[in-house]
Amino acid sequence: MAILVTGGTGYIGSHTCVELLNEGYEIVVVDNFYNSKPIVVDRIKEITGKDFKFYEADCCDKEAMEKIFSENKIEGAIHFAGYKAVGESVAKPVMYYQNNIDSTLTLIETMERHNCYVLAFSSSATVYGSPKTCPIKEDFPLSTTNPYGTTKLFIERILQDVYVSNNKWSIALLRYFNPIGAHKSGLIGENPNDIPNNLMPYINKVAAGELPILHVFGNDYDTKDGTGVRDYIHVVDLARGHIAALRKIMTQTGVEPYNLGTGKGYSVLEMVENFEKANGVPVKYQIDARRPGDIATCFADGTKAKEELGFTCQYEIDEMCRDAWHYIEEEKKRNK
Ligand code: UFG
Repeated sequence: MAILVTGGTGYIGSHTCVELLNEGYEIVVVDNFYNSKPIVVDRIKEITGKDFKFYEADCCDKEAMEKIFSENKIEGAIHFAGYKAVGESVAKPVMYYQNNIDSTLTLIETMERHNCYVLAFSSSATVYGSPKTCPIKEDFPLSTTNPYGTTKLFIERILQDVYVSNNKWSIALLRYFNPIGAHKSGLIGENPNDIPNNLMPYINKVAAGELPILHVFGNDYDTKDGTGVRDYIHVVDLARGHIAALRKIMTQTGVEPYNLGTGKGYSVLEMVENFEKANGVPVKYQIDARRPGDIATCFADGTKAKEELGFTCQYEIDEMCRDAWHYIEEEKKRNK
């Protein structure tokens, strides 16, 4: 029996594959490499010393998904596959709704046909919109500020309806805060080809001299130093959160949201300082205007994940910064 990982060569997906294999799970991975590279398949095997079946396919492709379920005994799925760039989703909403929702519907339909009812879904803290207070609990009101976030919220609602229609389903809605860092090996991590949208990949590129300066989006928020505060979680901790959720949903039915975050908030300027201290590399920055749609503060209340999943984070911020940079340095060496 295997766990299907959709989007398994992406940033969070690849780290989760490693943790699954390390924990002794058999996995089947599907990805269309829209936002990742084939080499990641080999890297996951190199890190774990384990083999697994890989399918290059689009999760919207009904025939391809049917083939995967027919050729393997899948007992549960972790669904990472999806578009994830906030700005792009504003420019191309139809593309986002089509891809993110259609792939999920196709997956669910195929799972039902094969009597497979265990699903962990990659949601996001973005479903909390602009929260009135922090830390954020799972029962806070939900809203969104961009099409990407709305796809996550819609899918959460769809999955709730799916459970109502058939109580055999067991679904975890995993609401991620801000994943950063990389696997200790330096073999997998996050290094987008384009100009990064997110803070840590941007810091990495400035530190590496590939971009001249970090633009800090606003220093007039109601926070400790005026810059945005977020809950940064080591991607390996986030991956471990999926294992904890999987263990839980394999023994029950229902739909449950869980926050996966550390519960600690760091400002943009604190992140620059943490990165510089952890790696001994300077990061030049300048204060610019606020980025439209950004919120001041966002950090998790992780009590539910702790109590119900037994999940807590192991990595502190200095290690997150070190591991993020280590991956970039290793990539540089490999590309020489
Ligand atoms: N920031 C900068 N400069 C940059 C990039 C970011 O100052 O070049 C700031 C932002 O203004 C924000 C903080 O750094 O205060 C973090 O920004 P990110 O873009 O890294 O992350 P966000 O919290 O905006 O968004 C992330 C994911 C979304 C997800 C959301 C959930 O990118 O997919 O968390 O809360 F929806």
